[in-house]
Amino acid sequence: MKGLILAGGHGTRLRPLTFSGNKHMIPIANEPILFYGLRHLARAGIREVGVILGPIQEGIREAIGNGSDFGLEVTYIEQGAPKGLAQAVQCARAFLSDDPFVMYLGDNLLQQGVRPFVDLYEAEHPDAVVGATPVAEPRHYGVLELDGDRIASIEEKPAQPKSNLALIGVYLFTPAIHPIIDQLTPSRRGELEITEAIWQLHRAGRRVRVQRVEGWWKDTGLPGDLLDANDLVLDTLPGSAFLRQGTIDPSAKLIGSVGVGADSVIEGDCEIRGPVLIGRNVRIGRGARIGPRTALGNGSAVEGAEVRRSIVLEGTRIEGPVRVHDSIIGRNVVIRGGSGAPAELTLIVGDAAQIRA
Ligand code: G1P
Repeated sequence: MKGLILAGGHGTRLRPLTFSGNKHMIPIANEPILFYGLRHLARAGIREVGVILGPIQEGIREAIGNGSDFGLEVTYIEQGAPKGLAQAVQCARAFLSDDPFVMYLGDNLLQQGVRPFVDLYEAEHPDAVVGATPVAEPRHYGVLELDGDRIASIEEKPAQPKSNLALIGVYLFTPAIHPIIDQLTPSRRGELEITEAIWQLHRAGRRVRVQRVEGWWKDTGLPGDLLDANDLVLDTLPGSAFLRQGTIDPSAKLIGSVGVGADSVIEGDCEIRGPVLIGRNVRIGRGARIGPRTALGNGSAVEGAEVRRSIVLEGTRIEGPVRVHDSIIGRNVVIRGGSGAPAELTLIVGDAAQIRA
């Protein structure tokens, strides 16, 4: 069994936010989104993984290297101009050879991981396993209609969804998918759709099994999804993920699950309400109020300010009387409160912004 993880050319809806680098590298609970998928593939016993790269590649090869940190052997595959998920499979054809494979969209977070897909494949040897879960807005997804256990229809982002079951971004295929993909024509959005390939596979009489996903699933295509994902991960991380390192003043109040990275300093007169993850070399100065559900990247600093339910990337400083909440803040941003009553800010800002509240 091989793995494919898509690290670009798919779900580019965050690009206008000017976060430099690849959106799959935006941290959720202080870990790039992409790492979750890589770990899930490794935990499912998969060793050889193809990382599909699109036009925005910064940081990916540096972060993943040859995959050994994840227990994987990684091959990088260029998709060039991305033209759909099925085209990504075509690009990976030589790497995949005639092996079955799990394809993981790198911006998806799936609590249960990939193992149940592989177990189902090993037990029943179907031609494909797809994951499905009920969602509130099915028209944003591939939609699966079931008649009992039988697949009645599969459509990509239908205007009038026939059910509320979304196809999640994790799929398992056998080589039976390749000739089907080779016969696809571009969809209305100009892409070779994996959803259409799955429907055609089913129509050709091949066995497509549906895995109802357990626990939460999140496609992090939109900024609000990133914050939701951050909540979900922080709320469900094991206690061991919240190690307390660095220097913590005894008068600082740390309540609940609060992780503090090496070389960080938490001064007195601070209150940190978990779940909160604080990276390495972070400074939490006097008067800071952090959390709940907040992740502060390495080298960031908060002093005299409040930050709750937010994702703050590396090197960002938030100072003075200001209350930042429900925000995603890029790298090396400076936010300074003015005089007077603290301003309330909900921000989605890219790297290196300077904000005076
Ligand atoms: C893709 C698939 C869609 C699936 C979704 C899950 O959509 O085309 O069928 O439901 O991923 O994340 P995209 O994110 O490319 O719009």
